[in-house]
Amino acid sequence: MAKRLDLNDVNIYYGDFHAVQNVNLNIPPKAVTAFIGPSGCGKSTVLRTLNRMHEVIPGAHVKGEILLDGEDIYSSKVDPVAVRNTIGMVFQKANPFPTMSIEENVVAGLKLSGEKDKKKLKEVAEKALRGANLWEEVKDRLDKPGGGLSGGQQQRLCIARAIAVEPEVLLMDEPCSALDPISTLAVEDLIHELKEEFTIVIVTHNMQQASRVSDQTAFYSLEATGRPGQLIEVGPTTKIFENPDKKETEDYISGRFG
Ligand SMILES: Nc1ncnc2c1ncn2[C@@H]1O[C@H](COP(=O)(O)OP(=O)(O)OP(=O)(O)O)[C@@H](O)[C@H]1O
Ligand SMILES: [Mg+2]
Repeated sequence: MAKRLDLNDVNIYYGDFHAVQNVNLNIPPKAVTAFIGPSGCGKSTVLRTLNRMHEVIPGAHVKGEILLDGEDIYSSKVDPVAVRNTIGMVFQKANPFPTMSIEENVVAGLKLSGEKDKKKLKEVAEKALRGANLWEEVKDRLDKPGGGLSGGQQQRLCIARAIAVEPEVLLMDEPCSALDPISTLAVEDLIHELKEEFTIVIVTHNMQQASRVSDQTAFYSLEATGRPGQLIEVGPTTKIFENPDKKETEDYISGRFG
């Protein structure tokens, strides 16, 4: 079940360093939200606060409110591990368990949470691999190591692993930056299909990609190095790319499109 996320006055810190200030943002369900902006403006930082991966860094903390369908994910009653199961993440560099088989990679999370039924695990693996558009390519070598796949296949394997636990939100931090154009298109097609079921947030440096895959775009920037990043403008992707309200957004986008 896809859920919405709402950020209210979110401020993010690494120890004393104020990395991101005053983010107010609504992330709708069953849609793709893209985070764009210059290096160091805080895109990855904001993304990691959305599934409580930020706080694993010593001294790192968050102020403000992040609501998942109205429930505060930072409430003292909430278990961060449960949040990370509900809100899955795919990283820039594909990180399958290299010596583990393709199938084992996909069901690793499920096994960790105690599922032992072999038939059930096989079913889940097939469904997730189909969902990640990888099934046809790997169905005859499910017992071969995940490390033996191409880069693009490995990234889709990581997406399969993330969706196997049926998260409500999928966070992706530059998932295509290490991929060739064909694998990138395969992952973009997949994102397009996945949004029917999941809420998706993607960080990308590729403006064409943001305009191709996202429904809503959030542009972040920062005044200077060492200053906090901020959300400058958010809106429907077509508006942000064609007719943004802020000059800063327009300058960034026209500069990046060249
Ligand atoms: N583990 C960390 N410890 C301390 N400061 C950090 C840490 N990670 C990021 N920062 C700082 O927080 C700010 C935002 O970084 P972040 O990685 O979120 O930027 P970004 O927008 O994702 O950049 P890029 O496009 O280069 O990936 C930067 O000033 C960065 O140096
Ligand atoms: Mg980043």
